[in-house]
Amino acid sequence: MYETYKETAAFIKERTGEADIAIILGTGLASLVNEIDVQVEISYTEIPNFPVSTVEGHHGKLVYGSLGKRKVLALQGRFHYYEGYSMQEVTFPVRVFYELGIRKLIVSNASGGLNPEFKVGDIMVLTDHINFFPEHPLRGTNLSAYGPRFPDMSEPYKQQFIQQAFKLANQLNISLKKGVYVGVSGPTFETPAEYLMFRHLGADVVGMSTVPEVIVARHMQMDVFGLSVITDSGVPGEIKEVSHEEVQHIAAQAEPKLTALVKEMVQVM
Ligand code: HPA
Repeated sequence: MYETYKETAAFIKERTGEADIAIILGTGLASLVNEIDVQVEISYTEIPNFPVSTVEGHHGKLVYGSLGKRKVLALQGRFHYYEGYSMQEVTFPVRVFYELGIRKLIVSNASGGLNPEFKVGDIMVLTDHINFFPEHPLRGTNLSAYGPRFPDMSEPYKQQFIQQAFKLANQLNISLKKGVYVGVSGPTFETPAEYLMFRHLGADVVGMSTVPEVIVARHMQMDVFGLSVITDSGVPGEIKEVSHEEVQHIAAQAEPKLTALVKEMVQVM
């Protein structure tokens, strides 16, 4: 695997420049690209060894450029486990980021709210996660050049970033929640009983991504900052029929706030 990661990194390095922050643009954060002073765009289809993104609303390109005074590498369109990708494919870009010398990762996603204090449209900073995927991205031979067999997960999301985010949100007049994200396979949204179960397990929101990428990033001791847009409610009495379109619609409404916050975060990370 090392050779594959290195080959892909070499290809990207030849076409871009130094970056110290990678951003995985989940549902609703795609417009952050409009804030980036883009120097290079590479379609996933052109990148050797890169999986190809399939889901509606995900564009599938790598974007390199300046966001304010920082250089960033952004993934527009991630690889979801529910699409049929292996965990190695889902987390492939994170290994490549590391090979490019990047040690900071920002992730965003859409989620269903479980905490009764949260409203649809709210933004939550991830303080922790629960891995509820049926497969672990680090199962199998350990790639010891990247990290240990039994990685520590005591600080999955960097405390310092969480504090900085609240400070910035306050300055920007953006209201922020914080909490625990439980990552599940999907592609079904949860039944009412499943939403309740995940609440009892200690989660504040539930979604179908992020956890595998964060595990692999932490394996390599990359520092992670995560944001989630709550696009629907899994709280008893508030559950309504939900669709991918509705998720996209709500996420798009929260996009300006998310974008403003990430833009400022990048400056201080
Ligand atoms: N469940 C799982 N994933 C999601 C949801 C949800 O309710 N909303 C957006 N992504």
